[in-house]
Amino acid sequence: MISPQAVTAYAPATVGNVICGFDVLGLALETPGDWVTVRRSGRARGLRITGITGDGGRIPTDPALNSATVAVASLLRGTGRTEGLDIEIEKGLPLSGGMGGSAASAVAAAVAADRLLDTGLAQDEILRHAVVGERAAAGGAHLDNVAPALAGGILLTRPSARRTLVGLPVPPELTIALLHPRAELRTEEARAAMGDTVRLADAVAQWGNTAAFVHALHTADWDLLADALEDRVAEPARCGFIPGFGAVRHAALTAGAAGCGISGAGPSIVAFCRGTDQAAGAGEAMLKAHRAEAGPGATLYRSRVSARGARIVSASGGGP
Ligand code: HSE
Repeated sequence: MISPQAVTAYAPATVGNVICGFDVLGLALETPGDWVTVRRSGRARGLRITGITGDGGRIPTDPALNSATVAVASLLRGTGRTEGLDIEIEKGLPLSGGMGGSAASAVAAAVAADRLLDTGLAQDEILRHAVVGERAAAGGAHLDNVAPALAGGILLTRPSARRTLVGLPVPPELTIALLHPRAELRTEEARAAMGDTVRLADAVAQWGNTAAFVHALHTADWDLLADALEDRVAEPARCGFIPGFGAVRHAALTAGAAGCGISGAGPSIVAFCRGTDQAAGAGEAMLKAHRAEAGPGATLYRSRVSARGARIVSASGGGP
């Protein structure tokens, strides 16, 4: 079999928490996303980052600090391989944007390396290596970003050693409108603001919402889904970091969105919509409200939930 010299993989943006499931729900968008190319360098060993675009020169080029190279280093260690590899990253996702950017780069890198080296890893092994990369860059392993970036869909990401990932049904009309303000919020900072205790009444409301959301997906019950899309745990501590958050949410809900809240750790704001027309209307309303409250510069994305997550987009050049 001819092995390629270079493989490029794509991994999409993800919405951690899905509003009501702090750390235990995540979903993948179709676009935007990151691309990572892994290439044989011809050297016996060692990883190099040979290019990063789309990051404004801000992502670390030190292979020990970058989520993509740390994921590939973990894969090499785990499979006992020593090839020298060059890595190029094309960021389609903003930094510290609440869209799973470091997870997407780690996942795309691990998927590309697995294919280039023909290591044939199972999805849970690729996930493990991508998590190592995510932890290095984001200061924690956010499975609600890493797992849907790899596998697609809407996932329950449980803190369980046995059945960690549970795929959930995606209502066919579900369309996401996501507003990314021109701002950054580091996940560590957003987590630190939450402290480490939750009031019992809020915990009860939250696990009730999480369970109701899962049931609503299984039954395509949009009324229940709308009622469940409420965050009593993270949003109260984090919304103050996001100028215009209340006005943007109000605008999305008034335009008909089923729910609206913080995407991941923020500062992006996500709305869950029933169909593309509703997502277009809610998205416009969100942009307008954001402009009025917080100024210009926000970007709006609209996307279905990706059924497939990360994928190989090219494999080139025959090798020995
Ligand atoms: N569940 C994580 C958090 C996602 O909200 O902190 C981080 O992207």
